[in-house]
Amino acid sequence: MSRTRLLTTLMAITVLQGTIALATEMPTVLITGTSRGIGVELARQYAERGWNVIATARNPGSAAALQDIAREHRNVRLEALDVTDHAAIDALAAKYRGQPIDVLLNNAGISGADEMGQFGHLNYAAYDKVHATNVIGPLKMAEAFLPNVAASQQKKIINITSTEGSIGSVKTRGGGYFYRSSKAALNMVMRSLSLDLKPQGITVGLVSPGFVKDDFTKGLDLPIMITPQQSASAVIKVIDGYDLSKTGSFIRHTGEGAPW
Ligand SMILES: NC(=O)c1ccc[n+]([C@@H]2O[C@H](COP(=O)([O-])OP(=O)(O)OC[C@H]3O[C@@H](n4cnc5c(N)ncnc54)[C@H](OP(=O)(O)O)[C@@H]3O)[C@@H](O)[C@H]2O)c1
Repeated sequence: MSRTRLLTTLMAITVLQGTIALATEMPTVLITGTSRGIGVELARQYAERGWNVIATARNPGSAAALQDIAREHRNVRLEALDVTDHAAIDALAAKYRGQPIDVLLNNAGISGADEMGQFGHLNYAAYDKVHATNVIGPLKMAEAFLPNVAASQQKKIINITSTEGSIGSVKTRGGGYFYRSSKAALNMVMRSLSLDLKPQGITVGLVSPGFVKDDFTKGLDLPIMITPQQSASAVIKVIDGYDLSKTGSFIRHTGEGAPW
């Protein structure tokens, strides 16, 4: 290995004039919501592949598993980010100005189920929170980090959605108004964005991660459920295969298309 290459590898993270530059040999992924669940596994698996990982979380300091990943992998940077805080998103984008980001991975999400209440007594403040997190957050992230994605090799903006947002799939069970409508809205926002960004060679993807056994589905234990590890590796495989020819499509973790 040449001295230059060795230095680049060892100095995976370098601070340059107040902005951050990562090693350029490997692709870079920025992931939201990496404190737990699918997000922490996405961070771990991209880190193990040797990618530069910008792992964002509301409170990275209190996310023990995430801290362990960062300790074990020099290619991981932890950043505090609440995706409903637009000033913080802009500040993070300013910090990474000029840094190519191959995959912007909008993973953070909430169901709002605990706060929703029953029809007749719905808690609309909770609805605002779900929409701010699941729909507006990913759109704002895409806006703020577009120059980073455009400057990268892979040029992908990938959003973790849900088949709960698939109108075509909802046939027998009602309820879930806040979460389901937020994912349906996310699908439309990103479908629309995919058309706008296609001329720049940017792929916008929607991936559902399967029915995953984690805090999100607490209390459920069904045979079809998969672990966060299984989900993350399936999602990464789908992202690897996502290219401009598929932009704007809604793909399950299995690689099959999902109905809108
Ligand atoms: N689990 C499933 O079966 C399933 C199925 C379909 C889709 N999904 C989707 O998969 C994604 C990940 O869900 P999960 O299963 O990993 O859920 P989870 O275990 O509940 O984790 C959710 C993650 O999102 C973060 N988050 C919530 N609000 C945030 C905000 N305002 N800013 C930044 N981060 C925020 C949480 O951070 P804190 O620790 O700070 O709360 C946590 O890291 C979500 O988009 C979800 O809708 C999950």
